[in-house]
Amino acid sequence: MRRFAILTPWLATVLFVVMVGSLSAQPPGPPGGRGGRGGPPPGGPGFGPGPGAGGQIAFESSTQPKDEDEAKILKAIEDILQKQGRRMNVPAADGRLLRTLAESLDAKQVVEIGTSNGISAIWMAMALRKTDGHVTTHEIDPDTAALARENFAAAGVADRITVVEGDAHQKVTELKGPIDLVFIDADKEGYLDYFQKLLPLVRPGGIICAHNMNARQADPAFVKAITTSPEVETLFYMQGGGMSISMKKR
Ligand SMILES: C[S@@+](CC[C@H](N)C(=O)[O-])C[C@H]1O[C@@H](n2cnc3c(N)ncnc32)[C@H](O)[C@@H]1O
Repeated sequence: MRRFAILTPWLATVLFVVMVGSLSAQPPGPPGGRGGRGGPPPGGPGFGPGPGAGGQIAFESSTQPKDEDEAKILKAIEDILQKQGRRMNVPAADGRLLRTLAESLDAKQVVEIGTSNGISAIWMAMALRKTDGHVTTHEIDPDTAALARENFAAAGVADRITVVEGDAHQKVTELKGPIDLVFIDADKEGYLDYFQKLLPLVRPGGIICAHNMNARQADPAFVKAITTSPEVETLFYMQGGGMSISMKKR
């Protein structure tokens, strides 16, 4: 209980940043900065035009490495993207959000659905080396899983990440809680199934994020579930590829 009490101000700050970020879609940018697969803001009751003129965010930011390990990880992300191209990876804005959530949640157990070559897992591992946490990431394609493992080694975060090969719909049934943070970024029509299977394992105050939550890509059944369930408080962050952030209520 004490741990949750300490984290509450941090989460309030993070959620404020998320809400501000949710008011603008941004163009592509460098690995440490903003940008990527944009999408329209959600709109609807309660959504105003945003904090600045025309709904634009007033200030830019990028990750400023605090130590050598952080600089090495940022460089690894840049190198991987340069050599391998984008493999449906999260843009930097979303990677930075995931890292921020993992670190402020003091995450010990993170679960990712959809590894690709590992960019989002590397962003989260940047936090997990500080929180002494671990991410279990799921990938259905063996060659892609092998490439991700190589990239985790190159980034120096292999000890923080386990890659599970196979269909995540089956594999997640082998997981045990408590989970601090879930990131869903795989088959869009599968999001509802992942949400239903993983929510019971998420600890109170934990968070489930889902990617590509824009009007074009999101599965309406999943959107309905996360916006109508009284078990979660859901926000939408639209600075990168579009992310839903559902906190499991206490
Ligand atoms: C959008 S990419 C993930 C990108 C990654 N999160 C990143 O940002 O670096 C989706 C990945 O999910 C994998 N995938 C799709 N369906 C899956 C399933 N049922 N189980 C496990 N992985 C799956 C795909 O092979 C693909 O590599």
